[in-house]
Amino acid sequence: MQTIPAQTGQPLSADSTSHPRGLYLLFATEMWERFSYYGMRAVLVLFLTKAMMMDKAFASKFYGGYTSLVYLTPLIGGYISDRYWGNRRSIMTGGLLMALGQFTLFFSASNYGPAETHALSHWLLYLGLGVMIVGNGFFKPNISSMVGSLYSATDKRKDAAYTIFYMGINLGSFLGNTITSLIGDKEGHPEAFRWAFLACGIAMLLSVVVFNWGKDKHLHTPTGEPVGLTPAQSGGVMGIYALLPVLLAIILGILWLDSAMFPTIAPLLGVAVIGIAFMIFSDKSLSGADIKGIMVIFIVSFFVVFFWAAFEQAPASLTFFADEQMDRTIFGYTLPASIFQNLNAIFVVVGAPLMAMVWTALGRRGAEPPSPLKMAIGLGLLAAGYLVMCFGVTNLQPGVKVSMFFLVALYFLHSVGELCLSPIGLSLVNKLAPVKFASLLMAVWFLANAAANYLAGYMSSLYPDPKSTGPAPQILGYQITSLYDFFMVFVVSAAVAAGLLFLISGKLAKMMDARNYPAPTTQA
Ligand code: PHE
Repeated sequence: MQTIPAQTGQPLSADSTSHPRGLYLLFATEMWERFSYYGMRAVLVLFLTKAMMMDKAFASKFYGGYTSLVYLTPLIGGYISDRYWGNRRSIMTGGLLMALGQFTLFFSASNYGPAETHALSHWLLYLGLGVMIVGNGFFKPNISSMVGSLYSATDKRKDAAYTIFYMGINLGSFLGNTITSLIGDKEGHPEAFRWAFLACGIAMLLSVVVFNWGKDKHLHTPTGEPVGLTPAQSGGVMGIYALLPVLLAIILGILWLDSAMFPTIAPLLGVAVIGIAFMIFSDKSLSGADIKGIMVIFIVSFFVVFFWAAFEQAPASLTFFADEQMDRTIFGYTLPASIFQNLNAIFVVVGAPLMAMVWTALGRRGAEPPSPLKMAIGLGLLAAGYLVMCFGVTNLQPGVKVSMFFLVALYFLHSVGELCLSPIGLSLVNKLAPVKFASLLMAVWFLANAAANYLAGYMSSLYPDPKSTGPAPQILGYQITSLYDFFMVFVVSAAVAAGLLFLISGKLAKMMDARNYPAPTTQA
């Protein structure tokens, strides 16, 4: 089990450079949870296509539907936590639900096959994913916001705390992905996928056990007040439990409708964004500077959609590519296709401290780019990653496999891009959001992720299938007949988004200044 690193120094003193023990508790809790989320996701599309016999286009959209709902439910989980449950209860409940979901997938994968002959297994698949979507809604927003609560508002260690926390996320992702790829993704053995889900269920239980063990001891503010308790005078704590089956039924209905009938999630996301914008902008107490800051959050979130939609091809089309089109042999050993997604976690863990050094060095010369510019650079790197890939697949002859160099280079560029955009965006939201709307604006950030994941599933469904006899997939009138055409879509979309964001980044930086936005963060 991950040990909680021992602390030296005075964890409660704000000027100390060490961090409170609570941070390491949250680190370990989130590490095991991300083990479970990313470990499962790494093999999901392969499980869907190779065991459940779904076609790649359907599996891609199903993956997009699932991952987008995962980032939509935090809206509900955040609301319930703020008003009724508090962070601790939400994390415990969410965590247990996610473990239950993984075990349900284990049963689904123990009796797999096409829907016509293995209907029960398919229903268990929907049920397992649905339970995990609900669970994540309670878990993810609460664990992320608790990190900040361990520090005072002005504590300089806050950015560093989020960087350390981001390391925990990626360490968990690395461990989970490695294990599930090795035990679950075995060429010609679709029955092995269940072990991946079992491992994820156990990891999720570990997360809950670690959190439960340490929550009362270590989760407090610098002045010793406990953090994340049930809000005082909150009635209806138990009543919410009765609502969980209703929420689950709604989520299952949406997941099913979206995958089997018609796009349901996209309009839902649109309604959520408009609803939130209306709630915020109709508030008369906001100052002009507040409104400018909030507009920056909305504008930046829009661009972020293009980033994650291309980035999240990793567990979908890029895994199909690794599986079918890439030479995966190294020293005579054939690596599982799903293991390549790990490169992202590795590059992030190694790259985060380096990136922090780069920003600090630039900052010393007064040349650190403002956050929107960093994000434009992130988008540019994303386009560059796909451009490298395009070189690898130019004039690809049928039956020829591409060197893994291209995918490794793509993941490297994407990971540096992620470091320019993701942690920076998180702290931008944190700092620009008026206190009153802090959670709601964090939800906007997650909503951008939800929309992006949905789009990612749709884009992955355009992956060209050489065996298909039907018409070639199209996007905005552009025909995709080869892998080159396919990857080019991401080069163009990310490059256009990067260019536009670059052009308006100066204006955005000015709008942020209006709110006395502090000097850009020096942490990655
Ligand atoms: N790797 C990040 C994580 O799992 C990706 C992410 C960024 C997810 C922002 C949600 C929001 O936390």
